Amino acid sequence: MLKGKKILLTVGPTREYLDPVRFITNESSGKMGFAIAEELIKEGAELIIVSGPVAIQTKVSEDCIKKVTTALEMYEVCQKHFKEIDIAIFTAAVADYRPKHPATSKIKKDGDNAIVEFIKNPDIAAEFGEIKLPHQISVGFALETDNVIENAQTKLTKKGFDMIVINSPNVGEGFGYDTNKVSIISKGQAIQDYPIKSKIEVAKDIVAKIKLLVE
Ligand code: CTP
Repeated sequence: MLKGKKILLTVGPTREYLDPVRFITNESSGKMGFAIAEELIKEGAELIIVSGPVAIQTKVSEDCIKKVTTALEMYEVCQKHFKEIDIAIFTAAVADYRPKHPATSKIKKDGDNAIVEFIKNPDIAAEFGEIKLPHQISVGFALETDNVIENAQTKLTKKGFDMIVINSPNVGEGFGYDTNKVSIISKGQAIQDYPIKSKIEVAKDIVAKIKLLVE
């Protein structure tokens, strides 16, 4: 039963600024995250969606969406809600690093090479994993190209996830597309592979699996 459950959902990419007009980001569209959000709303859950910059049409009410831009902003908003939530679902493609010294004015072209020093961003999911209480559930996502199952299992343990959804890196599946092909590992269980489906159908599979963790 997800009715009345407070669920934190991170969605979309983050932007890490080099200067006021340039940033580093990734291909995440937020489609998977918002498809899950719509499914959770149908189940009667109460959502806090922390979304990076996305451009998608959603039926989700603006009232439960907190818009952020950078990983640090996403982290700060999420952290405020860690204690009050029942479930956290980390679908966001958070930038692992940000420029250490972003320029305050536009960087001028100078010389043949440019070197940018990066510093690690906080790991939002790992931090929740550290402090989560026994009744709280954490769900992570992973996009792996090599040693898929082994890497996903390591992430499940390291970040304290109860369940991890492995996305496909293939063309036509995953980032930016309307379809996705996932495998799911719930803690202590064998991996379950799903065929390629629309993200709406994938969201239904993911929510069904989450419901099993709650019951
Ligand atoms: N995640 C997060 N905060 C970060 C990085 C990742 O909350 N700073 C979450 C993602 O939302 C996802 C999970 O952690 O649910 C795994 O993200 P991923 O990028 O695959 O893992 P990394 O720890 O960044 O590992 P790597 O990039 O080395 O594979």
